[in-house]
Amino acid sequence: MEKQYVFGDVMINKEEIKKRVSELGAEISKDYKGESILAICVLKGAVLFMSDLIRELNVETKIDFMAVSSYGASTKSTGVVRILKDLDSNIEGENVIIVEDIIDSGLTLKYLKEYLLARNPKSLKICTLLDKPERRATDIRADYVGFSIENKFIVGYGLDYDQKYRNLPYISYLEEE
Ligand code: IMP
Ligand code: MG
Repeated sequence: MEKQYVFGDVMINKEEIKKRVSELGAEISKDYKGESILAICVLKGAVLFMSDLIRELNVETKIDFMAVSSYGASTKSTGVVRILKDLDSNIEGENVIIVEDIIDSGLTLKYLKEYLLARNPKSLKICTLLDKPERRATDIRADYVGFSIENKFIVGYGLDYDQKYRNLPYISYLEEE
């Protein structure tokens, strides 16, 4: 039988998200002072985080988007990564920052990082809103982390379950009934 899920409490509220995103923006702006950035949003989960984050950057910033295959309607990683939408821009010589919603097993990002490094960016860093270090199946780590969290299935502020709940302005989680 299919599992049934119920909503947990609010894990991180609107104000906490806003504060942390602004801190990350300040940190990134400081690290890239005098340089320019190409921020790459990994669709669809990172879209809310990305749009808030780039408004907190005071260095020259360009944006682009990529879509990779994710979990479908399941909550478990398959480890299979497929590029559904590639970049529009040439990243050679650019200071690339991959903007992700969450690092779980890390398999998606490991693949993506190698894929993009092959195109010779000037530098490449990873910025993730959420990190579930407990779940890591590979040696990938982010350079900028919004919140390090325990192992729960997260929804809201861009993150989905079966494409739903991305529009919630706060971060919550689902529990098995
Ligand atoms: P990974 O390859 O296991 O690190 O998973 C990467 C992708 O899986 C993320 O970019 C998310 O789209 C999705 N994902 C992982 N954990 C969660 C979660 O708790 N809620 C919603 N999506 C998740
Ligand atoms: Mg995703």
